[in-house]
Amino acid sequence: MCMQTPITPEQMERIDANSEKLGVPRILLMENAGKAIAEHLKNHFKDLTGKKAVVVAGTGNNGGDGFVAARHLAGYGAKTTVILLGLDVKTSEAATNWRGLRNMNKTVRLITRSDTGFDKELERNILDADFVIDAIFGTGIKGMLKPPQSTAIDLINQSKAYTVAVDIPSGLDPLTGEVHDRAVAADATVTFHRIKTGLLRRSDLTGEVILAPIGIPPEAEEGALLEE
Ligand SMILES: NC(=O)c1ccc[n+]([C@@H]2O[C@H](COP(=O)([O-])OP(=O)(O)OC[C@H]3O[C@@H](n4cnc5c(N)ncnc54)[C@H](OP(=O)(O)O)[C@@H]3O)[C@@H](O)[C@H]2O)c1
Repeated sequence: MCMQTPITPEQMERIDANSEKLGVPRILLMENAGKAIAEHLKNHFKDLTGKKAVVVAGTGNNGGDGFVAARHLAGYGAKTTVILLGLDVKTSEAATNWRGLRNMNKTVRLITRSDTGFDKELERNILDADFVIDAIFGTGIKGMLKPPQSTAIDLINQSKAYTVAVDIPSGLDPLTGEVHDRAVAADATVTFHRIKTGLLRRSDLTGEVILAPIGIPPEAEEGALLEE
């Protein structure tokens, strides 16, 4: 099976779980995923010093990848803001990386949904960014979209900023590639381990697709792929 073979979100979940059993936990995969996002931006812009970076993050592990990217971007000198579209973070891996960001109070600005003036800050930061990282939803999207996620997607699409989607543009069904309501139209999508089936034939939303290895042992695929 070559790296280009597409996989479903369910297969990806099994591969993640196998990786964990083989001693390579999700937090390590998250580190590699977030770093791959920051590296893509570094390659694209060459010098990130003083660039206005805005990470728009959901409450799951897609958001967690965005937190890791923010830490690396701050290390590259970008003026980094992270906007969490919720009140708290739902997974332990994302929570660990969120705690790390809370201690970076000189280099990363954090905005959460409970902050006064959240809606205005969301709009101002996204429209004024040099680049936006869409870390709202990855493979875990379910059901209908409501504000602030739906508003954030509209603002990202309105913004002139270069936009990178984490794994999957938010709003795109990761299995079928359908859009039920609205979706981010990205300039680039950095997808992890293998391309997800929903990204195929959706270059209108994915932009350039970059496939980033994140350190999953090949053995983690045993029994996880449908045709086996
Ligand atoms: N091996 C890998 O490839 C790897 C490794 C590390 C990280 N990751 C990343 O992890 C992602 C998957 O993480 P995940 O399973 O935690 O899923 P996710 O894509 O981060 O989405 C799940 C989160 O979104 C919320 N959500 C879902 N639908 C929503 C809706 N319609 N409105 C509002 N909120 C909604 C969920 O809240 P509720 O719980 O309240 O529903 C949950 O907090 C991947 O796409 C990738 O970016 C992958």
